[in-house]
Amino acid sequence: MEKMEEYPFLKACRRERTPYTPIWLMRQAGRYMKEYRALRKKYSFLEMCKNPELAAKVTLQPIEKFKLDAAIIFSDILIPLEPMGVEFEFAKGEGPVFHHPLRERKDVERLRLIEPEEDIPFLMKAIRIVRKELDGKVPLIGFSGAPFTLASYIIEGGHSKNYVLTKGLMYQDRPTWDALMEKLSKVLIRYLNAQIQSGVQAVQIFDSWVGCLTPGDYEEYVLPYSKKVMEGVGKSVPLIHFATSNSTLLELMKRAGGDVIGVDWRVNIGEAWARLGYDIAIQGNLDPVILFGPVDLIEKNVKKILDSVGDRPGHIFNLGHGILPTTPLDHVTALIEAVHRYSSR
Ligand code: CP3
Repeated sequence: MEKMEEYPFLKACRRERTPYTPIWLMRQAGRYMKEYRALRKKYSFLEMCKNPELAAKVTLQPIEKFKLDAAIIFSDILIPLEPMGVEFEFAKGEGPVFHHPLRERKDVERLRLIEPEEDIPFLMKAIRIVRKELDGKVPLIGFSGAPFTLASYIIEGGHSKNYVLTKGLMYQDRPTWDALMEKLSKVLIRYLNAQIQSGVQAVQIFDSWVGCLTPGDYEEYVLPYSKKVMEGVGKSVPLIHFATSNSTLLELMKRAGGDVIGVDWRVNIGEAWARLGYDIAIQGNLDPVILFGPVDLIEKNVKKILDSVGDRPGHIFNLGHGILPTTPLDHVTALIEAVHRYSSR
C-alpha cells in the first residue's frame, strides 16, 4: 500500500507533486501494436475480452513495450450490456451493431441488473492476473462507459452522427429515459465497484459522446445519473471523468464528479484547467493525429501542452481520445520520452 502512494500517476490524480508528468494513452492496447494484431488474427475482439488470460496479456503488451505510467485493463465499455440482456456484435469495419435497439418502456423493464462477479467473471479474473503480473510496476486502471454514452449505443443500435433517436427518447419520453438512465447507473456502480474489489487502482468513466448535448440538456438529463454513479463508486480510488467535445460542459462535469477531468484536443488545456479550478486534476490532451509526426512536431506539441498547464501538480498526460490504429510505434516512444524529459523537475 505504501508503495502504491508513490506512483506518479496516482499522485497526479491526487494533485500531489511528482518528479515528472505521468502519461498513459487511451486505447493503449490495440491495433497499432503488431503483437495485438497477431492475436487478433486468431481471436475476435470479444473473444479476447472474455478470455482472462488473453485480456491480461493484451493489457500488458503496451507496458512491456513503452515506459507508460499506468496500465488500463483490456475490455470494452459495452461488456456489461450483454448480461443486461442487450445483444450486440462487432461487425467487421463497422464497430458495434445492436440487433434490437431500445425504443420503449418495456425494453427498459426487460434489462437485467447484473451481478458483476457472476456475470462478468472474466474481467474480474483478468484484473487479478494483471495485478499479479505487473507486480507493482505501474498501477492498473479500470473503466466503464457513462450512462449517457451507453444509452446512446443501446438506443441508436450503434454509433450515431446526430443522436436523433437518443435525444428523441430523452425529449419525448422522459419517464422511459429516466428509467433507462436509472438502471444503467445502478449497473455501473456495481460494475465499477467489482473492478475496484478485484484490484484496479483507479477508474475512468468514458462519456465519449456526451458532447453532442447542450449544457442545459446535460444538466437536466445526464448530470444527475453520472453524479449518482460517481457517488456510488466512492473515494477509495481516484476517478477520472472523461468526455470528448466537452469544452462547454467542463464546469457541469466537475459538478457531476471525479477527481480528474479528461479533455480532448479541442480545448486549450491550461484554459480548461483555469475554468475548472485547481481543486481538481486534469488529463489530456494531445490530438491523436499529431502522433503521425514528424517527431519534432510531436515534441513541439508536447511542450505546448506542458507549458499550458504550467508547473502545477495534478496533470496526467494523455491523448485527447484513443490512439489510432495506424499510429507509428516509434512516435509513441518519442511522445512518452518527450513528456518525461520536458516535464522532469
Ligand atoms: O484503453 C484501452 O486500451 C482499454 C481498452 C478499451 C477498448 N475500448 C478496447 C477496444 C477501452 C477503454 C475502450 C473504451 C470504448 N469502447 C469506448 C470509449 C472510449 C472512446 O473511444 O471514446 C467506446 C465508445 C467503445 C466502443 C467501441 N469499442 C467501439 C465504437 C469500437 C469499434 C471502433 C474501432 O475502433 O474499431 C470498439 C472496439 C474496440 N475496443 C477495439 C479495442 C482495442 C478494436 C477492436 C478490434 O477490432 O481489435
